Amino acid sequence: MLEVKNVSRFFKGLKALQDVSFTVNENEIFGVIGPNGAGKSTMFNCITCYFPPSLGNVYFNGKEITGLAPHEITQLGITRTFQHTQVFPELTVRNNIITGQYVMKHKDPSRTQEALDANVEEILAFVGLSDLQESLAKNLSLGHQTRLAIGIALATEPKLLLLDEPAAGMNPEETKQLTILLRQIRDRGVTVVLIEHDMKAVMGLCERILVLEYGQKIAEGTPQEIRENPKVIEAYLGSGDLA
Ligand SMILES: Nc1ncnc2c1ncn2[C@@H]1O[C@H](COP(=O)(O)OP(=O)(O)O)[C@@H](O)[C@H]1O
Ligand SMILES: [Mg+2]
Repeated sequence: MLEVKNVSRFFKGLKALQDVSFTVNENEIFGVIGPNGAGKSTMFNCITCYFPPSLGNVYFNGKEITGLAPHEITQLGITRTFQHTQVFPELTVRNNIITGQYVMKHKDPSRTQEALDANVEEILAFVGLSDLQESLAKNLSLGHQTRLAIGIALATEPKLLLLDEPAAGMNPEETKQLTILLRQIRDRGVTVVLIEHDMKAVMGLCERILVLEYGQKIAEGTPQEIRENPKVIEAYLGSGDLA
């Protein structure tokens, strides 16, 4: 579904990504892990053209999308969340979800108001925020704001959803609930790519994993393959994360 081919991204002298290639299959949960500064967020920025890659190509369902405008990427069915959760703080939860629908309305202008309203209700229930729908987003807990950001993303009706460290700052119970939500998102037919700092967390959730270190790919494979990969073992040696 997604093919990243020989992508590099340079910032002045810094090689944030160097010749990284990988593929994401339709309907899988795919993890991207690696230490801070490894280039994970930069990879999302290159895929969604928040900024373009310096070198290399990105393909979505066989069509080259390198260098398209971010709104074009969204209309093709790729939506992302940001590492620092972005909601509209002064809007209600419900109106936050409605902002996400604007993209989808462009995709299918024939949608009736009833259908759009029903879609908002469904998403609110799905992310577990029905009871908070009239609250201002700024008054939500971090865990709820992250669920809201995911709800906004779902309202754009993505085929591919890129999530940048959604579990950051969450307590163990919130993280567990998030894991359940991500599986349910996949079960709706949405392919999920998840950046996660914590190796253990992705091992249980993802079918396949990409490991970045210093802007380079050091491994790609199933959790089992990642766990047994000598380069990964070396990179994570002593951290206890492979236990
Ligand atoms: N817009 C930018 N301008 C300059 N340097 C950047 C920019 N974005 C990221 N970097 C640098 O690229 C490297 C990779 O960053 P990032 O992709 O955010 O890492 P990760 O998400 O894996 O923690 C870091 O050294 C970071 O400082
Ligand atoms: Mg990051």
